[in-house]
Amino acid sequence: MRQESRLVKTEVTESGMTNSTITLTAFARDTLEGLSSKNKYLLPKYFYDDAGSKIFSKIMKMPEYYLTDCEIELFEKQKEEITDNLIKGNKRLDIIEPGSGDGLKTEYILKSLHKRNIDFRFIPVDISSHANNVLADKIRKSIPGISIEPMTGDYFSVMNKLERSSNTSRVILFLGSSIGNFSEAELDRFLSGLNEISTPGDRALIGFDLMKSPEIILPAYDDPYGLTREFNINHLRRINRELGADFDPDFFEHRQEYNTDTGEMKSYLVSRTDHKVTFREPPAEISFLKGERIFMELSRKFSILTINEMASSHGFRVMNNFTDSRNYFVDSLWIRE
Ligand code: AVJ
Repeated sequence: MRQESRLVKTEVTESGMTNSTITLTAFARDTLEGLSSKNKYLLPKYFYDDAGSKIFSKIMKMPEYYLTDCEIELFEKQKEEITDNLIKGNKRLDIIEPGSGDGLKTEYILKSLHKRNIDFRFIPVDISSHANNVLADKIRKSIPGISIEPMTGDYFSVMNKLERSSNTSRVILFLGSSIGNFSEAELDRFLSGLNEISTPGDRALIGFDLMKSPEIILPAYDDPYGLTREFNINHLRRINRELGADFDPDFFEHRQEYNTDTGEMKSYLVSRTDHKVTFREPPAEISFLKGERIFMELSRKFSILTINEMASSHGFRVMNNFTDSRNYFVDSLWIRE
């Protein structure tokens, strides 16, 4: 998955690193904004350059990373019932998927829809046209005759541009617990966006990782083969490559924290020593103190209760919660009221 940064005019004033107006990519702007804030952070959407996507594929194959196995198991066993519930009451469907990744899980749904007597289009939406076209080609090969219309751009601006034909309902797919990356504010913005682009009868199928014993959650992230560290360090390597920075991976230690009360699994890189990192494009300098950390990723775990509340507070009702046999993961099917 290649991330294509958009060129924007911006002024990095908060950071005090430059006071002249310069042209920065969204990646440069977000990175410098995150690293110059009081509590340093980076945005998880930038994990997925080619190398990062490959590391994430390896993470998904670890036996300890139960999320993918659970979602595949529940699709394998319940795809017919899920499909029934997507089709019920509808003549035509637009299946819209923001950020499909490798599309492995989406294929289960598309294949069983294809076998039914329902007219549907698949519309993958991604910021990277490259990733999106690779996915579309792959699915066209595995499901000959399927109608796919990939769209490039930011999720909601693209979805707002989608034309709605009168007899077509929308199904929005957001699988794999991608939603776990969102802060409270982002979560609310995302769900409000879902509400805005949907009308009564439309559906959303959203993957949530459920709260459970830390003994099960921690090994998925912390870090049996060093892959989560590699995933995080790759983000620094991307910054080095694309922004001409000089991060030294050896100066950072990987740390995971799970909060059993809130379900927040947080990933950090912690500086082992006082040091400075310099940037060439644009010129900047970021200081690190020994023990100072960069907040790299939130992987939130949810409860069924919160999922129901989130649905109803954003105009949806939960039709079904499809869980795996161990009850670790849920694909929650929502209908717009
Ligand atoms: C792709 C966001 C679902 O949070 O579990 C896996 C990403 N990060 N290991 C997750 C991830 C570290 C993953 N999501």
